[in-house]
Amino acid sequence: MSSFPAHRPRRLRSTPAMRRLVTEHSLHARQLVLPVFVTERDAPQPIATMPGVIQHTLESLPDVVNEAAGAGLGGVMLFGVPAVRDALGTGATDPDGILNRAIRVAKDAAAGRLTVQADLCLDEFTDHGHCGVLDADGGVDNDATLERYVAMALAQAAAGADILGLSGMMDGQVAACREALEDAGFVDVVILAYSAKYASAFYGPFRDAVESTLSGDRKAYQLDPANAREGALEAQRDIDEGADIIMVKPAGPYLDVLADVAASASIPVWAYQVSGEYAMIEMAAAAGAIDRDRAILESLIGIRRAGADAILTYWAIEVAGWLREGR
Ligand code: PBG
Repeated sequence: MSSFPAHRPRRLRSTPAMRRLVTEHSLHARQLVLPVFVTERDAPQPIATMPGVIQHTLESLPDVVNEAAGAGLGGVMLFGVPAVRDALGTGATDPDGILNRAIRVAKDAAAGRLTVQADLCLDEFTDHGHCGVLDADGGVDNDATLERYVAMALAQAAAGADILGLSGMMDGQVAACREALEDAGFVDVVILAYSAKYASAFYGPFRDAVESTLSGDRKAYQLDPANAREGALEAQRDIDEGADIIMVKPAGPYLDVLADVAASASIPVWAYQVSGEYAMIEMAAAAGAIDRDRAILESLIGIRRAGADAILTYWAIEVAGWLREGR
């Protein structure tokens, strides 16, 4: 009898039933979070570089929240697109600002079926488009920005947000917001820290989605794509400062960072499949280069395999539907 080949790993791939039995990783609707843009204009707007994604209005927001809840998603992450912006990002802390109003509307529509999450960052609200307030030299002033973030955290918590997504990459932002929330009695508000957020070209379509006014870049506060250890360190610091959940962003190009953080973290680790990752697959599929649905599922299972407990993705509702069909 021949002894070659010594191993036949194809045995476990031989039938659909066998493959199903030995699948290591899976995706569930509850692990998906849908980012939602909410504009102050009076009609929903398409986003040219994100085919299939729109800016919602306060009127259309309950529908998408209902859809997300019906699909079994874990949450919605809200981004405000204000009509007016200024140097301090005043709209972010105004209880009647677009994002804080959206939180109230979404919270009401969600009725406890899914979590309402809010982006806590100033870039959509500042006229210069940076994630914080500027110092005399035009740089982002870390400590002055923390005061704005604290006010924003309190406004979002008061509006009813379940989870605050701290995405600004200022030093000490988690500790500052945590302390303020505790002092104000918001002890159950969860802090999701975008710990390892890289200065990425893959945020391109998002700038369209929020009509960003930024000229220049965010390299003085977001991480250098060439650095892995720094991402792991930021994650640990955020855990020490009191984060409840940490995140790596973007997802696809940073799976090594995600795997590294997930291997040692003692709290949930999420990943954000960002706008550019979305646009790449949509546009490649539209051009006939790849099978859209398979590419979407493969991108998401890759992020899960690297260690993400949950994923923010613009395909959340559609994918949840596929999962229900058993795909
Ligand atoms: C900051 C923020 C950004 C994204 C999420 N939160 C933009 C940035 O840092 O430049 C990008 C998300 C995406 O590209 O899908 N408010």
